[in-house]
Amino acid sequence: VTSPIISPSILSADFAQLGAEVRAVSDAGADWIHLDVMDGHFVPNITFGPAVVKALRPHSTKPFDVHLMIAPADPYLAAFAEAGADTISVHVEAGPHIHRSLQTIRDLGKRAGIALNPGTPASAVEPLLDLVDLVLVMTVNPGFGGQSFIPSTLETIARIRAMAAGRPLDIEVDGGITPDTVALAARAGANAFVAGNAVFKGGPAGYADRIAAIRAGA
Ligand code: DX5
Ligand code: ZN
Repeated sequence: VTSPIISPSILSADFAQLGAEVRAVSDAGADWIHLDVMDGHFVPNITFGPAVVKALRPHSTKPFDVHLMIAPADPYLAAFAEAGADTISVHVEAGPHIHRSLQTIRDLGKRAGIALNPGTPASAVEPLLDLVDLVLVMTVNPGFGGQSFIPSTLETIARIRAMAAGRPLDIEVDGGITPDTVALAARAGANAFVAGNAVFKGGPAGYADRIAAIRAGA
């Protein structure tokens, strides 16, 4: 039994003070920092690219957990690696050669993650398990913070944990994670938990308490 990993998503932070926000959640007990990269094509929203990841790197010693919601991802993998990503997750739906993308991330010396949307079956990642350190199960449709947890994803989590029996695989959940839903995801087999609104909403004075509450639920 490993201890839960809490990865606050800066998508819900104050974008006018991202450096201070990353320092604040790092000091408040975050295990990883989750960075959501969106291209306005794979998902209906746009956030930031490798230059922002690089600018934030000096503000934290925590691993940077970079979630790419972009298609294609391959032309940008080296840039995110050089910017200071520790884990780089690409979506199985982003194609066209996801196996190659994962090999590229490993060749860059980074931890590789495969993400899947709520409408994608667990079996989609089965052929990729030898190539990944992490599976990122989306528990909302990607694009925005503050959405509600989709319960059918619990079955996906459980199936992937069963598929990965005997492997030291991180299963991370992302979307609608609160001190309540985190328990459901943990029971299904997740061990890493992204939280945006549940950490950032309400401001920096509450970050430590809110991270602790999510950890306690997991
Ligand atoms: C959604 C992002 C999530 C998002 C989660 O596309 O991948 O990381 O920030 O936000 P909450 O925790 O507010 O649902
Ligand atoms: Zn994310």
